[in-house]
Amino acid sequence: MRLANGTHSVHSVAHRETFHPVIGPVAEAEALYVRQLRLPERLAGQGGEFVVWDVGLGAAANVLTVLRACRTSGRTLAPLRIVSFDHTLEPLRFAAAHADALGYFGGYEAAIAELLVRHRVEFEDAGRRIQWELHLGDFPTWLAVHPAALAGENLPAPHAILFDAYSPAKNPAMWTQPLFAQLFQLLDPARPCALPTYSRSTMLRVSLLLAGFYVGAGHATGEKEETTIAANTLALITEPLDQKWLQRARNSTSAEPMWEPVYRQAALTEETWEKLRRHPQFA
Ligand SMILES: C[S@@+](CC[C@H](N)C(=O)[O-])C[C@H]1O[C@@H](n2cnc3c(N)ncnc32)[C@H](O)[C@@H]1O
Repeated sequence: MRLANGTHSVHSVAHRETFHPVIGPVAEAEALYVRQLRLPERLAGQGGEFVVWDVGLGAAANVLTVLRACRTSGRTLAPLRIVSFDHTLEPLRFAAAHADALGYFGGYEAAIAELLVRHRVEFEDAGRRIQWELHLGDFPTWLAVHPAALAGENLPAPHAILFDAYSPAKNPAMWTQPLFAQLFQLLDPARPCALPTYSRSTMLRVSLLLAGFYVGAGHATGEKEETTIAANTLALITEPLDQKWLQRARNSTSAEPMWEPVYRQAALTEETWEKLRRHPQFA
């Protein structure tokens, strides 16, 4: 569909959700992921392979924006490995068929065509080796069986996670506390990793904190005045949530994590509050 600012984005009729509904896919991906994660800078200083997990591949706007932004990022061209997750390829097929209107596929048409068929593709992009693979299936299920899957698939822990599921109200299975706890368990403590996402909800932030992440206020995107960034080290967070936020969470009527994939809003239970206030971020 055509957005008010003239750019085009994909709309899912089945989920009644438009991908990146206000500023368009590329502008949002640049603000939320490329600039906030300082991806070109991190890649330029990277010794070995840099690994990005892309949760919710959708129409690939996030990945293609990241690839484009990293084209000119320094002399040492670390290989970039992208691991995408989605349970359907329909948005990508649709987007590929409307690549001209969407406008962000330029130069990557062949890579996308191969990814759609083989679920993996390797190519050179401005001198950088790109390895892009797709895990087609239900992400929460994949995470739950993951330790075995990781070893078998030789899948490296990520340096960055682009987390872009539909909203918690429409897609609760992708926003439960156990999902973030399992995701955190897969990170390598010795590998700094950050996960930005567009939601700033208290429920999400509490879920991430209890999963073990440090959590901060994320950059504005034009779409949202504030987003969220989580990481396994405080060093990747410029504006960590503070005591003021903690007190607001204590009083919020929508702060208790979803423990099951059913959307609801509730205040913190005493048990959750006790865990939350003991998080090292607030000590
Ligand atoms: C907002 S869209 C992603 C947009 C995409 N990042 C882009 O740049 O075009 C959300 C995506 O999450 C995927 N998704 C939703 N629930 C999922 C699940 N349980 N497992 C895997 N993927 C899921 C949807 O199929 C959809 O493509």
